[in-house]
This record gives sequence, structure tokens and C-alpha cells, in this order.
Amino acid sequence: MEQTIKFPVVNLSKLNGEERDQTMALINDACENWGFFEIVNHGLPYDLMDNVEKMTKEHYKKTMEQKFNDMLKSKGLEKLETEVEDVDWESTFYLRHLPQSNLYDIPDMSDEYRTAMKDFGKRLENLAENLLDQLCENLGLEKGYLKKMFHGTKGPSFGTKVSNYPPCPKPEMIKGLRVHTDAGGIILLFQDDKVSGLQLLKDGDWIDVPPLNHSIVINLGDQLEVITNGKYKSVMHRVVTQKEGNRMSIASFYNPGSDAEISPASSLASKETEYPSFVFDDYMKLYAGVKFQPKEPRFEAMRNATAVTELNPAASVETF
Ligand code: OGA
Ligand code: NI
Repeated sequence: MEQTIKFPVVNLSKLNGEERDQTMALINDACENWGFFEIVNHGLPYDLMDNVEKMTKEHYKKTMEQKFNDMLKSKGLEKLETEVEDVDWESTFYLRHLPQSNLYDIPDMSDEYRTAMKDFGKRLENLAENLLDQLCENLGLEKGYLKKMFHGTKGPSFGTKVSNYPPCPKPEMIKGLRVHTDAGGIILLFQDDKVSGLQLLKDGDWIDVPPLNHSIVINLGDQLEVITNGKYKSVMHRVVTQKEGNRMSIASFYNPGSDAEISPASSLASKETEYPSFVFDDYMKLYAGVKFQPKEPRFEAMRNATAVTELNPAASVETF
């Protein structure tokens, strides 16, 4: 692995000072060449982050760890004698914030944990919307363009996947999370500040996304690749398991609303626009079955699905 390559770290507080232009350029370079960057001085209170981390780890110990061990048993994964390619070595649960919160429907969360996650989610939502506007500025799109495209009739979807990656006796036999690109818009990840594991594929090499205390990792999903007509790309990533330590990661996905119509921005589209236009939910239905496969056939399928509906508006996009 090329350790000389420097993973992009963006000091967001510099957007308010003399180094604004360089900072915007750094964000643009990261979006064009990495699909990932890490932000510091993002405005999230450190005590809130510490609290969320502490409570997530406690919640795992109290309510998830036993279930994870039972899962290992039921799937016969305790020995790991051969490589396993159809299961992830992770323990997760999901919170939805938008369009409607399910925070109070999730069992086994303490009141303090719920309150902290609600506050954390709201602040990440604001951060995501600010970042989308910074992307708009770099892309020469009017302010609010991406937010508007994500809006649909019910506003964006925003949710949080809370994960723990427990220590694994044979990391070479199983991934914490298999290789994929994210389907949605922009992803904000609060990852463990000590235990590493997240890697992205850059120019054929797997590069570590280094733990950095109080930072947030940002990455771009397939929708931003489509809207930017490939100027920005969603990048393949994975989580490797570790022999020691339990890795926490809290990934928040700021995505289009289910009925949002996604298409390449006309100012970025070339004459022969390569990327398809579609309703976000149709993309998600497709993604659900092929998440761990390359994205290009997904774009291709959506292109064909659109062609079918254009030819015959009565045809369902689910017929492909
Ligand atoms: C994901 C993801 C990375 C991580 O959930 O899509 O890439 O570190 N997670 O948990
Ligand atoms: Ni991902």
C-alpha cells in the first residue's frame, strides 16, 4: 500500500477565513480524485461526539454483543476455516431521521442515548446540507441545487447506521463489510478514533481511512456521480476486520427522498449524457439486490429501464 499518499483532511473552519479558496479547492480535489475526505473543525461539539461514542459502545455491550455471538453460532462462523464471502462481520442497527423519525420506536435505547442521537442527527443533517452547497459552489451549480434535487415531495431521506465491528480471530477469512459503493447522496461517518478498518480503493490500491479524533469522514454516493455526470465519483470501499479491538462506526446517509427525480445536471451533462435519469426509489430497489456488485451495471440497468418506460409509459421499471 502506498503510504506516501496523503488522505485529504479538510479544516472546515478555514472556509470562514483567508484560506477559503484553497479549502474549497481541496474539497473539489477530494471529490474528483478520492470520493472521500475527512473534515475537522466541522462545528459538532466534541462533548456530544464523546457522549455518542460512549453510549454507542455501552449499548453494544448491553444489547447487541450477545446477539452478534448468537449470529456467529447460528451461521457456523466461530471457526472460519475457509473464506466467507456472503456475510459481514458487523453488528448494526438503523435509525431514520427524515422524512419521519423512528428514533422512539427502536427498542433498548436509553432516554439519554435517544436524546444524544437526536441532537447528533440534527447537527449532521445541517452539516450535510452545508456540504452539499459547498459542492454546488465547486460544481458551478446554484446554491440549493442539490438539496432541491434531493427533495422530492417529502424532503430528503436521512438515516444513521450504527455499527460495531467486533474483533475477529481470522481477519483474512471475512470482511467487516464487503466492497461496495454507497447508493445515496452524501455520507457522514463518525468512526472509532482508535480501531481502524475502513479502506477505499484508489488507483488499484486499498488505502486506509485513518482514525482521527473528532473528525467526520465524508464520502459521495452513486447519486452524486449521476448528478455530476461522472465529474465526481462514488468510490469502492470496505471494512476489514481486526484481531484486536471493537471498532465503532456511525454512518449517516443524506439521500434523496424516495420519489425524487435524479438526473445529470444540465450544465454538467455532455451532449451524450452517459448517466441515466430515474426516480431514486427505483434505484434503491435495484441496489438492494446488488449492493456488493460494481455500480456500472446498475447505471446501465437504470438507463435501459428508463428507455423502456419512455417507449411504453405503462411498462413498469421493475420488469428489467
Ligand atoms: C457503509 C459503510 C463504513 C464503516 O455502511 O456503507 O461503508 O466504516 N460503512 O462502517
Ligand atoms: Ni459504505
